[in-house]
Amino acid sequence: MTREVAVYPDLAAASAAVAALVVELAHATDGDRTVVISGGRTPATLFGLLARASATEPGLRDLEVYFSDERAVPPDDPQSNFGLADRLWFAPAAMPPERVHRIRGELAPVDAAAAEYDAQLVRRFGGRPSPDGPGFDLAVLGVGPDGHTASLFPGAAAARVADRWAVASPPGTVPPPIPRVTLTSAALSTARTVVFLVGGADKRAIVRRLLAPGGADGTALPAATVRPRERLLWVLDADAAGAEPTARA
Ligand code: 6PG
Repeated sequence: MTREVAVYPDLAAASAAVAALVVELAHATDGDRTVVISGGRTPATLFGLLARASATEPGLRDLEVYFSDERAVPPDDPQSNFGLADRLWFAPAAMPPERVHRIRGELAPVDAAAAEYDAQLVRRFGGRPSPDGPGFDLAVLGVGPDGHTASLFPGAAAARVADRWAVASPPGTVPPPIPRVTLTSAALSTARTVVFLVGGADKRAIVRRLLAPGGADGTALPAATVRPRERLLWVLDADAAGAEPTARA
C-alpha cells in the first residue's frame, strides 16, 4: 500500500481532484467498477461535480455505487446519506437505480438493515471480506474530528469487527445521534484505492494525528485502521492540512 497526501487550495479543488479519480475509474473497461461513497457535509461538492460530469462521461452511469454507512432513517429523511447523494448526484445524472446499492436505513431494527447489507455484499463478492479476496475498486471516505470514518467510532465494537462487510453501529460521537449501519474496516480495506477527502480547519488536529509518522496513536482511531490494497490518498484542502497547497485541480 502506498500513501499519498495532496493539499489543494480549497474544498472545491480537492473535490474536483477526487471527481477526476471517479471518472478515471468509470473509464476502466474491465468489468463492473464498484465505488463506495460516504455521507456528511464534505462530499456534497463532489456529488454535484459527478452529476455535471455525467453529461459528458456516460461511463459514470455504469459504476456500482455502495455506501460506507447510513443512518437509521428512511431515504427521504434529511439525515439520509442516500438522500443527499440522490438529490445532488443520482437524480440530476439520471443514474440507473439498479446501479445504486443503498443501505435500507428504514429497516427496523437496525441490526436487520446491517444484516441485509452484509448479505448483499457477501453475494456480490462471493464471501467474507478478506485482505486477498475480491472487494471494492474505490472508496471515498470522510473523517470526523474524533478519528471516526464511516460510522466506525473510536472504542465502539463495530470498529473491531473483522469478519463481516456491514454491521450496526450505535449513535456515534457526532450528530445525528441515531443508530447507523456501517461498513467495517475490513470491508473498506478490500478497496484497491481509498481516498480520504477532508476539508476545513476543524479537521486539522485529527489530520495531523492520522498523518503523524508511524501514526503511533493512530491505531486507536478507526480511520487509521483502513488499509487499502494499493493506494491510500489523503486529499485535503489547505485548512484541513494546515499547510500551503501542494497541488492544483
Ligand atoms: C456520516 C459519514 C461520516 C462522515 C464524517 C465526516 O454518515 O456522517 O459517513 O463518516 O464522513 O462524519 O463528516 P463531514 O463531512 O460532515 O465533516
